[in-house]
Amino acid sequence: MQPLADFPLDSMNTLGVKSKAEYFYSFGSVEELEHAIGWARSHNQPLRLLGGGSNVLLEPDVSGLILQSAILGKHCVRDTESQVWLKVGAGENWHDFTQWSIQNGYSGLENLSLIPGLVGASPIQNIGAYGVEVSSLIESVEVYDLEQNQLRTLNKMECEFAYRDSIFKRSEGRALIVLNITFVLDKSPSVNISYPVLQQHFENANIAKPSARDVADAVIEIRQRKLPSPSETPNVGSFFKNPVVDEDQLSQLLKLHPEMPHYTHGALYKIAAAWLIDQAGWKGKAIAGVAVHHRQALVVVNPEHQNLDVILGFASEVQRDIQQKFGISLEIEPQCLASIELDRSAAS
Ligand code: EPU
Repeated sequence: MQPLADFPLDSMNTLGVKSKAEYFYSFGSVEELEHAIGWARSHNQPLRLLGGGSNVLLEPDVSGLILQSAILGKHCVRDTESQVWLKVGAGENWHDFTQWSIQNGYSGLENLSLIPGLVGASPIQNIGAYGVEVSSLIESVEVYDLEQNQLRTLNKMECEFAYRDSIFKRSEGRALIVLNITFVLDKSPSVNISYPVLQQHFENANIAKPSARDVADAVIEIRQRKLPSPSETPNVGSFFKNPVVDEDQLSQLLKLHPEMPHYTHGALYKIAAAWLIDQAGWKGKAIAGVAVHHRQALVVVNPEHQNLDVILGFASEVQRDIQQKFGISLEIEPQCLASIELDRSAAS
């Protein structure tokens, strides 16, 4: 096993930043992964994990060995009259998998159509769109545990899923490399169109009982209309998380801004960050070539391929302004590639 040195990551991050990995290796099996871990240990290099690059912030020079999963496969592992359990490799393309599942007559993933990236990244930030979070469809996640040097299966509880969050994003889960995910999908044609924009879409189209295919088509159409395609305009989807507030904070905000969109989120409330950014006048506004997208204010675009410093500088201007105007602190959603230091004593 020989990783590639000075490997360009320019085409492997949808934000379009220039970036280079000190070493890069794509593994297609557990054996290849174990070789790569052995190589990193013997060369005293930290590991970093890259998915499809659609939700990451890359420095110009990324040190250590960058690993990307190319583990493929979509297998039915269990099946009842009403449900199917599918074990899917981390290296599969997310959107292709959602469309394949619909073609095979399974429902559940249709609201998550057209999200860029790989299947293995889906539990990391618990991807969600149009009223569905992927955690509601995951039974378990098979990982390689770098601390125990063995395969482990985490059930849904152990993944500690939350809004755009999971154990894999936090320090306790950083040593876990996602290999395969088991999804539970429905065989019945049940769909979720509770999200206002979907409800409106089917009311306008006069479709009372949409199929999973209808919902996927609607989601694809809405995403294409509202969100810039990363292949044309570099971006990572939502750049900020929607802030979560309690009832008191919400009622204070609603006194000042009665029309502010908000949604229940368990016992708390989510506020539409896009609305705050839009109201603050940032939509379409650019500084040094980095801009808030002109159709969706939660998306930061990087058409001039500026580096990470410029993008983060722009983001902090937006954050400062929202703090000043609404008293709300916006959290950045995409992540830097965390570095995992390996225990050299485990080297074989
Ligand atoms: N809005 C504005 N101005 C805008 C855009 C939206 O005022 O420029 C208002 C809308 O009118 C609406 C509200 O903000 O009332 C919410 O907008 P939208 O439905 O577009 O969703 P969002 O909260 O901005 C979230 C996800 C998206 C996901 C959509 C649809 C997060 C951080 N983002 O965006 O996810 O596609 O809902 O479900 O939760 C992503 O994570 O990369 C992503 C694109």
